[in-house]
Order: sequence, then C-alpha cells, then structure tokens
Amino acid sequence: MRKPVIAGNWKLFKTTSEAVELVNGLKPLVNSANHCEIIVAPVFTVLTSVNQAISGSNINLSAQDCFWEEEGAFTGEVSPRMLVDAGCSHVIIGHSERRQYFGETDEMVNKRLKAALKSGLTVIVCIGETLAEREANNTFDILRTQVSGAMAGIAAEDLKGIIIAYEPVWAIGTGRTATDQQAQEAHAFIRRLIMELYGADAAQGIRILYGGSVKPENIKGLMGQPDIDGALVGGASLKADSFAAIVNYDK
Ligand code: 13P
Repeated sequence: MRKPVIAGNWKLFKTTSEAVELVNGLKPLVNSANHCEIIVAPVFTVLTSVNQAISGSNINLSAQDCFWEEEGAFTGEVSPRMLVDAGCSHVIIGHSERRQYFGETDEMVNKRLKAALKSGLTVIVCIGETLAEREANNTFDILRTQVSGAMAGIAAEDLKGIIIAYEPVWAIGTGRTATDQQAQEAHAFIRRLIMELYGADAAQGIRILYGGSVKPENIKGLMGQPDIDGALVGGASLKADSFAAIVNYDK
C-alpha cells in the first residue's frame, strides 16, 4: 500500500511570523490525519522557525531546492546536509519554476537528487510538460526524458527515498487543473516508465503526486484515481483552512 502524501509548496511566500502563524493554524486542523503524510515546504530562511513550530506534530518539513555539493565556495547555495541540520526530512527538486526561470536541466536535477539522497533526505522530484509540449503531442516524450534524466545512475534501493511529482506546467497557478483522466493517464505512464527502469515492485511502490491548481474542490476526484498518490499544492497551501481541507480529503 502506498501511503498518500499531501505536500504544500509555499514558493516565495511567508516571512517568519507569517510562516509560524500558518503552521500553528494548520496543526490542530490536521492532527487527526493518519491516512497521509503531511509536508510543508517554506523558503530557506524560515525553515528553522517552522521546524520548531511543528515539533511533536504530524507535519514534516521540506526545502524547495538544494545544491549538490556538501560545502565549499558556492556563494548563495544551500547543501542537503544543511537542510537536514535545519530540520528537513524532505526536499523538492526540479520544480518547473526552477527549470523555467533558473535554467535547471535534467542533469542538474540528477546531481541534486543524488546528493540529497546521500544526506538521507526524501526527495520530491518534479516533472511535467508545458502547454506547447502537450499541444504538440509531446507529453509522453517529455516525461520519458525527464524521468530517465533525473534517475540516471539511481539504484533500485534508492527509490524508497524518492517521490515523483507530476506537475503539468500549464496547470500551475492557472486555475486550470488537469482533469482526473488527464492526470491519471500521465501518472500511469510515469509508473510504467519506472517499471521499465526498475521492475514491477519498484513501480508499485513509488508514490506519484499530482500538482497544478489543486484545491479543496478537486482533490477528491484526483485522489480517486488509481495512480495518483497525493498532491503537491501551491497557492492553496498558503492558507491553513484550504490546505487542511486538502489534507482531509478523506472526510
Ligand atoms: P498551484 O497549486 O498554485 O497551481 O502550484 C502548484 C505547484 O507548482 C506546486 O509545486
């Protein structure tokens, strides 16, 4: 059985006091949720404060990116070991906003993934096609390239530390969610890719999250799909009540 994951990617939002207020509001709303793992991913500067605020709760801490070196002359970077030190159990890598605005390539995603796994972090690897790629019928080719690029040199036993997030770029922040069927089709394809690379058991075990305009109104339908194991939520994770409603999709 794959345990569902509901993760909130806060992107470039929330100062320390706002972040602490958000998790303090969230904690009582999700404290009875045992059916899924709950993750929040704030900006680097508030990780330590949020870590203190969630101590003893069922909320886990993720960063939104990490570098591939442990330390050195790399001004502005943060290493996986430093994220662990700040209280993170998870890290997101390869988000489409990083690919789009910061020149992130599959090769860089692969280097970050290897480094983060080495530090014991569970990694949420983001993939997904743009609107132009979907309209040109290239969705599956893009997903294949992104999965094989990210996973190059990754061993089967490392898969337990990896969660894949399928986030079609055209659905992110647009209010235009993929339909349940579109998401399911892409998730089933990604699971098949993992089967080709690592075999059936690995494919059945890996969790694949959907991201892109997930809201309290559409989470149930998405979670009803056989290959959707959770959600990576942007905008709707910035308010305690809407994120809690997504976490509590089973109610
Ligand atoms: P939205 O939920 O705001 O569309 O963002 C999705 C996302 O990019 C999560 O990583």
